[in-house]
This record gives sequence, structure tokens and C-alpha cells, in this order.
Amino acid sequence: MLSGVQPTGDIHLGNYLGALRGWVDDQHDYDCYFCLVDLHALTVPRDPAELRAKSMECANLLLAVGLDPDVCTLFLQSHVPEHTELSWLLECTASMGELRRMTQFKDKTARGGEEAARVGLFTYPVLQAADILLYDADRVPVGDDQRQHLELTRDLAMRFNKRYGKTFVVPAAAIPAAGRGARIMDLQQPTAKMSKSAESPQGVVLLLDPPKAIESKVKRAVTDAETGAGAVRYDPAAKPGVSNLLELLGLATGRAPAEVAAEYSQYGPLKADAASALVEMLRPVQQRYRELTAEPGVAEKALAQGADKAHAIASVTLHRARDAVGLVPRP
Ligand code: TYM
Repeated sequence: MLSGVQPTGDIHLGNYLGALRGWVDDQHDYDCYFCLVDLHALTVPRDPAELRAKSMECANLLLAVGLDPDVCTLFLQSHVPEHTELSWLLECTASMGELRRMTQFKDKTARGGEEAARVGLFTYPVLQAADILLYDADRVPVGDDQRQHLELTRDLAMRFNKRYGKTFVVPAAAIPAAGRGARIMDLQQPTAKMSKSAESPQGVVLLLDPPKAIESKVKRAVTDAETGAGAVRYDPAAKPGVSNLLELLGLATGRAPAEVAAEYSQYGPLKADAASALVEMLRPVQQRYRELTAEPGVAEKALAQGADKAHAIASVTLHRARDAVGLVPRP
């Protein structure tokens, strides 16, 4: 199993509930590789010092949510050069047309235009395919927004296998069910997904937000003007804001959103309970994060160990792919 997260901005509830929380359980059931995709972060402008700091912050946060470096393999993408080398072989497998159809590329270039976009932003999904295929992953747990990138990865693996003989395992996305974390919405703009690049920070709950900030963001969440019996119901299309709050409270307390809805008739109490459930859910993560950052060297050690383990697997797969396309082995 492999998954990844960009060590940029701050990790938010969407990342946590759509992906990271599931990884913690999965690490005991699968041979897991978790990659901090720092090379993917370079597809848009970044301050170098900030990228470095955020990469370590993100590593500490992944440890704080419960990833155990003795159980799973946690590593930085840039520490394992096989990712960029396989990416080239896959760029020579992918077509311009299929990359142009990627909605994330279209979204991310909507404002600035394609002309100014970095080439890396265009080839981003190919590097993501390399991340996955290097580890023979058959399961890739991600949020719903990564569905199209996973389809591309499967297409590239199948095309490569057909062209050069069986080389890669064809992976499948493991996406939470609707209403169970697949797509957490922005609290201020509940028809848009919660995102690191959101315009309003009020709509995004960060894992490291202090309790007061979480309470204030949840209490100001956009709902709708309906009142009276039946106003609190789970209906994402008609009531995106309320449905998102029901989903969040459900995920924090281990229940389905419709089951949560049955307990409320007004938005005020729903918001108050959602806020305190989220604060309680994040309390141990924040506590552990503070402990980890007070112990220098823990994340560095985990990443060094992870890079060695990842490299050992990735180099074998890369060798197979190089051989398949006809590259002469290094003497
Ligand atoms: P990233 O860093 O944007 O997000 C990390 C994970 O969080 C999920 N996610 C969400 N889930 C539910 N609701 C949301 N609002 C929400 N926002 C984000 C994402 O689906 C993802 O699972 N391209 C990837 C990183 C990547 C990767 C990979 C993932 C690179 N290589 C290989 C899997 C396998 C990305 O930018 O994720």
C-alpha cells in the first residue's frame, strides 16, 4: 500500500479524515509506504526555507497522528531518486492529451493561465504514478479528489505492461465512502472541498488549530436559512453546509451522518457539538505533536530509516522497468 501527502501549507481536517486517519489503521494490515511528496510541492512557487520547515513539520504531524516508523515506511520523496527516474520512463508512456484532461491541472492554471504554469505542474500526475508503481502498491488510500490521478496511474501501468511485458502491479484507489470522509468541504464555502490553497482560512480547520480557533471556525460555518422540524438533515446536494457538519460530527464520534442528524433540530447545538467533538478528536494529536517537536531528531531518524527501506524496494522495481524498455544495465 502506498499513499502520499504534500508537505505544504498546513494539514487540515480534509487530509486527516479523507486519508491520514485511515493510514494509521492500515499500517497494521498492509505493508505500507507513506511518502511526503516534497518534489510535488515544487510545481508552484515555494519559499525554500519554508518548504524545508514544512517538510519536517509534516513528518512530525504524521508521527503525531499515529504512524509508527517501526511498522510502516515513512519517507521524503526527494530522498529516493528512483521516483524521478521512473517518472521519466512514464512520461514517455503518457500522452499530452491525457495529461491535459486532468482537472487539477485545469483548476490550478485557471487563474494564471497555462503559459506561465510550470511544466512540472503539467507532469505532476506522472510523478504521482511513479510514486505508486515503484512500490508494487495494489491499494492507494486517498480522498475523492485524487480519483482521476489514480485512473491515470492505472492506465499508465496497463499501457506499459502491454507495451513492454508485465512490469507493474496495477493499483486500485481506496476512497472512503460518501459521507465518511471522501470529500470534506470548506466551512465557508461548503460547495468547494476543504483545501490547503483555500481563499479564506476561516473555512479550513487545521490539525494544529488551537481549540478556540476550531470552535470559532465551526460556529461560523455557513449553513442555510431553513428552520423548523427537519431542517437538520443529511442531504449534501440541497444542504451542503449542514451535511458537512453532520459528516464531521459523525466522523469524530464514529457514526453515520444521517444517524447524527436524527438527534438535532437546530443548527446551534449541532455546531456546538461538532466543535467540541473535533477539539476532542484532535487533542491527543496536538499533545503528541508538542511532545515530538520537543524531542529533536525523532522525525529525522524516522525519515532516514524510511528512505533506506523505500530505496531497497524502489530500486528493484526501477531496475525491472529500465530493463523492460531496453536500457543497457549499468556496468
Ligand atoms: P494532498 O496533499 O492534496 O492531500 C493528501 C490527502 O488528503 C486528501 N484530501 C482530502 N480528502 C477529503 N476531503 C478533502 N477536502 C481533502 N483534501 C485532501 C487527498 O485526497 C489525499 O489523499 N497528489 C496528492 C499527493 C500524492 C499522492 C501520491 C497521493 C503524490 N503522490 C501517490 C497518493 C499516492 C496530493 O496533492 O494530496
